[in-house]
Amino acid sequence: MFLKLLAMLFLSLGAVRAQRSTQDIFMLEYFQRRILEMEERLIRCDQDIQKVNQRMHDMSAEMRGQVGAVNVIKSEIEDYMESLATRVDRVERDVEYLHNKLPDASSIEISDSLLDQQLKETQSKRKAVILQGKECSTRFIGIKSQKILKKAGNVVGSWLKDPTATSGSSKIYFFSGSRNNTLLQFGSLKSFTESNTTSKPKVIQLPRPWQGTGHAVYDGFVYYHNSDTRNEVLKVSLVNRTVADRMLVPTAGRIPTYGLSPHTFLDFAVDEIGLWVIHADPDIGGNLVLTKLDSRSLSVEHTWDTTCKSHNAEGAFVICGILYVVYNAHSGGRSTIQCLFDIHDTIWMEELPVMYFPKAYSSHSSMHYHPQDKQIYAWDDGYQTVYHLDLKKLLQVT
Ligand SMILES: *[C@@H]1O[C@H](CO)[C@@H](O)[C@H](O)[C@H]1NC(C)=O
Ligand SMILES: *[C@@H]1O[C@H](CO)[C@@H](O)[C@H](O)[C@H]1NC(C)=O
Ligand SMILES: *[C@@H]1O[C@H](CO)[C@@H](O)[C@H](O)[C@H]1NC(C)=O
Repeated sequence: MFLKLLAMLFLSLGAVRAQRSTQDIFMLEYFQRRILEMEERLIRCDQDIQKVNQRMHDMSAEMRGQVGAVNVIKSEIEDYMESLATRVDRVERDVEYLHNKLPDASSIEISDSLLDQQLKETQSKRKAVILQGKECSTRFIGIKSQKILKKAGNVVGSWLKDPTATSGSSKIYFFSGSRNNTLLQFGSLKSFTESNTTSKPKVIQLPRPWQGTGHAVYDGFVYYHNSDTRNEVLKVSLVNRTVADRMLVPTAGRIPTYGLSPHTFLDFAVDEIGLWVIHADPDIGGNLVLTKLDSRSLSVEHTWDTTCKSHNAEGAFVICGILYVVYNAHSGGRSTIQCLFDIHDTIWMEELPVMYFPKAYSSHSSMHYHPQDKQIYAWDDGYQTVYHLDLKKLLQVT
């Protein structure tokens, strides 16, 4: 508008001075052209600005759209990551499950072939052990396999067999809980594992309750920590349930044998050589003490202060005079053998690689080695579990 007014002014000026020289007219025309040009350029500039504005508007709209799209992608990725984590979790649990072979109905039932095989092995190995006598040279290499046979009784407890040749049989002795005076005797492993058995277990009442989970049945007698005493061992006949003998285990009873099994102060073990008892002694830093007992006279044959700690231990077993100590964490998990003590001093700690148990439910409240079966009868959080052992002979006895 302003430019137009300006042009009109010039035009009117031109009209007034029309009579002026042609030079003036040229000048006037020249200005007119320039003004028109400027006007056009201003219009174009205005259009350009409008275009720029439009483009900026478009761009910001586009950016807003892209931010929206990015947010969508971000939440998609988050969802994906979440489902990935869940899947990984599930896969881990599946692996664990396969590893454990959870005791469903099918795995609780022990196969007849395994029983037959065990029976044959027991018969043939019984002869071998009698021949071998006390010249024992078997070394433990690792766990061959695990079998969960049953879930019965208390969370803690103990189940075992009598491994001696004279009274040794297929009978299963079942001690549920860490204090009771009633144990159950099953005729065989088969009748123990079959839930629908016709033959009921025999109920055996002991004259005094037991303490802990470390009992042993050896040559027709049950050996156990007399409850409410610090360190008294009772030897009770399974035939007439009378106390055949009693003794005190020196230095025992002040702290639990294993840091992770608070009820057990005396843990009995049976191996190829005979009857042992394990306890922890605070005077030697809470280390384990291994004592060889003479089962007939119920007296101490010899005692060894071992280098194995009771802290974080959950159990132990003796094979051919070598103590193997099983450790775990308070939270439970895979049990490992991390310490051994050889009464013959032929094996040193350095030789022992860390040996893993198959994954457990929580932790073992008892572990009993059976020298003829070459198995450990364990109680794992209420599950009665058998571990087949991989054993190696150091010397061939013929
Ligand atoms: C003792 O053991 C018997 C047989 O296993 C069981 O019925 C009883 O409840 C137990 N008693 C206690 C106090 O745990
Ligand atoms: C238990 O055995 C009886 C007879 O042998 C049978 O009828 C019953 O179905 C069995 N029960 C289970 C749970 O297996
Ligand atoms: C109980 O049985 C054992 C053998 O198991 C025997 O040595 C003992 O003399 C018997 N005691 C009584 C009081 O009958």
